[in-house]
Amino acid sequence: MTQKEKAKLVPVSREPALLTERDADKSPVLECIDLGITFGGLKAVDNFNVTIGRTEITGLIGPNGAGKTTVFNLLTKVYQPTHGTILLNGKDIHDLNTAQVNRAGIARTFQNIRLFGDMTVEQNITVAMDTQMHYTMPEGILRLPRFWKEEHVMHERAMELLSIFHMEDLANAKANSLPYGAQRRLEILRALATNPSLLLLDEPAAGMNPSETAELMENIRSIRDTFKIAVLLIEHDMNLVMNICEGIAVLNFGHVIAKGTPEDIQNNPEVIEAYLGKQKEA
Ligand SMILES: Nc1ncnc2c1ncn2[C@@H]1O[C@H](COP(=O)(O)OP(=O)(O)O)[C@@H](O)[C@H]1O
Ligand SMILES: [Mg+2]
Repeated sequence: MTQKEKAKLVPVSREPALLTERDADKSPVLECIDLGITFGGLKAVDNFNVTIGRTEITGLIGPNGAGKTTVFNLLTKVYQPTHGTILLNGKDIHDLNTAQVNRAGIARTFQNIRLFGDMTVEQNITVAMDTQMHYTMPEGILRLPRFWKEEHVMHERAMELLSIFHMEDLANAKANSLPYGAQRRLEILRALATNPSLLLLDEPAAGMNPSETAELMENIRSIRDTFKIAVLLIEHDMNLVMNICEGIAVLNFGHVIAKGTPEDIQNNPEVIEAYLGKQKEA
């Protein structure tokens, strides 16, 4: 099967949702229905209807200020939506807070890197696993067998995650001593450590050089293939977006102005207008 055939989108019952043929017979990982938020008069995101298939790489693009990061903040309950519904694995997450949404399956990285700079690379990953560990506090304090067993499991799993980016040698380095690109990669690993079914990446290639970006692109694909998870990606690097995304939604002033395959998006006059309009301003 060629890449193009794989990425063929098919309409599903709740229009105008589109899923890849590969995921069409599985329940979607995420459904946003009429999602929106208003910040004192400003509709930062309005009528956001996007469905994401179980193993899909979806792009969320649009000019600066379009509302992309706000969508991530809604999905992770940093903000409570003003209206609309979010279904994660078919369940309404209305009553969940940020930590509960993470446990339910959404993990994210941030547009501006947020790591524990003074902690080691490995510790930055293992702290994210804490919710999955079962030793009690006394077992931890007294260093009882279950504590060591779980510490060992966490170490092994952290090393496994680090191997995705060939970063095992950096396990004991302080996070803030890493070069910028490596810090971005570590953030992705920390998000993966929480075992998400949906990984949200906010401009992962920002500040990376072309060869780092090309490598990241391959890594995002292999993360999806290895973990069989969905990825929602905000990114300005159009080469990356058009190459790895199967579905793309374009936001402009809080509205989805286009949705479809990379080809649909590249040929959409409204999208071209939104981007060219922005270039003229700049
Ligand atoms: N907490 C907030 N309070 C008020 N306005 C906000 C807040 N967060 C975002 N906005 C506004 O919402 C719009 C979308 O912002 P954002 O989602 O960060 O855009 P993008 O990530 O697409 O560049 C912007 O006009 C921004 O100023
Ligand atoms: Mg943003």
